[in-house]
Amino acid sequence: MKIAIIGTGYVGLTTAVVLSYLNHDVAGVDKDESKLTLLHEGKSPIHEPGIQNLLDEVWHTIRFTPSVAEVVPEAELILIAVGTPPKKSGEADTRHVEQAAREVAQVCLPDRHYTLVVKSTVPIGTNQRVVEVVEDVFAARGIRGNVSVASNPEFLQEGLALQGAFYPDRIVVGANSDEAIDTLRRLYQPILEQTFDPPSEFPRPSAYHLPPLMTTDPNSAEMIKYAANTFLALKISFINEIAGLCEEVDADVIEVARGIGLDARIGHQFLRAGLGWGGSCYPKDTAALLGVAAQSGYKMPITEAARTVNFRQRERIVEKLRAVLHTLEGKIIGILGLAFKPNTDDIREAPSLDIIRELLAEGATVRAHDPIATANARRALPDNNRLSFTEDIYELSYDTDALVLVTEWEPYHKLELRRLAKQMKTPILIDGRNVYSPEEARAAGFHYIGVGRT
Ligand code: UDX
Repeated sequence: MKIAIIGTGYVGLTTAVVLSYLNHDVAGVDKDESKLTLLHEGKSPIHEPGIQNLLDEVWHTIRFTPSVAEVVPEAELILIAVGTPPKKSGEADTRHVEQAAREVAQVCLPDRHYTLVVKSTVPIGTNQRVVEVVEDVFAARGIRGNVSVASNPEFLQEGLALQGAFYPDRIVVGANSDEAIDTLRRLYQPILEQTFDPPSEFPRPSAYHLPPLMTTDPNSAEMIKYAANTFLALKISFINEIAGLCEEVDADVIEVARGIGLDARIGHQFLRAGLGWGGSCYPKDTAALLGVAAQSGYKMPITEAARTVNFRQRERIVEKLRAVLHTLEGKIIGILGLAFKPNTDDIREAPSLDIIRELLAEGATVRAHDPIATANARRALPDNNRLSFTEDIYELSYDTDALVLVTEWEPYHKLELRRLAKQMKTPILIDGRNVYSPEEARAAGFHYIGVGRT
């Protein structure tokens, strides 16, 4: 199938390489020149495990261009995967989605049928708005175009994006037209039936079941995306709230999570207590959902509380440091991990940024490390002669008053704790992701403080 994908960010690029791997004829469209330069050289602009190898593999068939007019007229299906950044009010800004729809409608041929699919996360009702935008352009062009609009929310998890794209739990399609649903069913057929040869880096999981294609109306499809993300966000906030109470009553949140996760109705996933969620989705989508609700005058206290608890986790880590060091003024703090989660260079809404800003504001000196997100964090944080970045964790820890583990990167699981503790001024380890066992850290000489553990 001939496909044009507008937007080559995390969602657009992942979708483009996966669909190309499944033998579709894919063109990616992006206006960002720096991204296009990299893509034209065959280099992925995003860090995502496996994406470079897959891009190399499909390089002879996939195309990237800045021009909608060059690829849309010939396409059968057009996917919009542009950003929906938050407005000041928290609501998602759909300007880029509408602009993309307008540009598509301007170049559609009058005698052809197109399926226009919104993959970006958008407020409920956007699908209908896209239908109106397209009709307005057709009216202005004086033609009767033939475009079916559908919603196909993306559930991509950064760091696991390709795994999730090849082996999704479900595919959701919201559409009012059977034609659009049929086109999307054909698009995803190799995934729905698992008829493709898995890439060597992404073997089919042995227990994997064929994913259902759930079809529904567009508003419900848009709501499914927000509701899924908000539910996961509040599951994490729930265990973090329990973690705080565990600290008060001498219980261990890891044991509690294990115990409640064994209940099949609750399940083990997303019950890791720690510094909470960041990234491009949960913070933005929970705010956007509250924005949608506010417009209807509807209150969502559970979603509000999930946000409060989440951002409080960052403050609580600084409070723990303050409590153990008495003051942060003049202290040297090592930060391990800047990315919002492991296996990505994404620092959007990362807990590290808030923690570092607060430490600097209180007069501490901060030395930070991340396996790959340092360049992005450097750009996001203010220039400050008390803030430095280093590639060597052992060098970072020398003479520090405390280390704070913010992101649970794999290399941090294997640190030589004894060596680290020895060269610090005071061997304090604040483990914001419960990577270490308290016994192990204490045996290595650390004063260990985790989240929700005694
Ligand atoms: C999420 C959804 O998983 C995905 O379906 C959606 O399309 C986009 O939003 P992502 O933001 O990439 O994906 O990451 P995810 O793995 O869900 O983790 C989000 C945050 O929650 C991370 O900061 C992570 O550290 C945190 N988290 C996750 C916890 O603190 N505890 C957990 O148990 C799980």
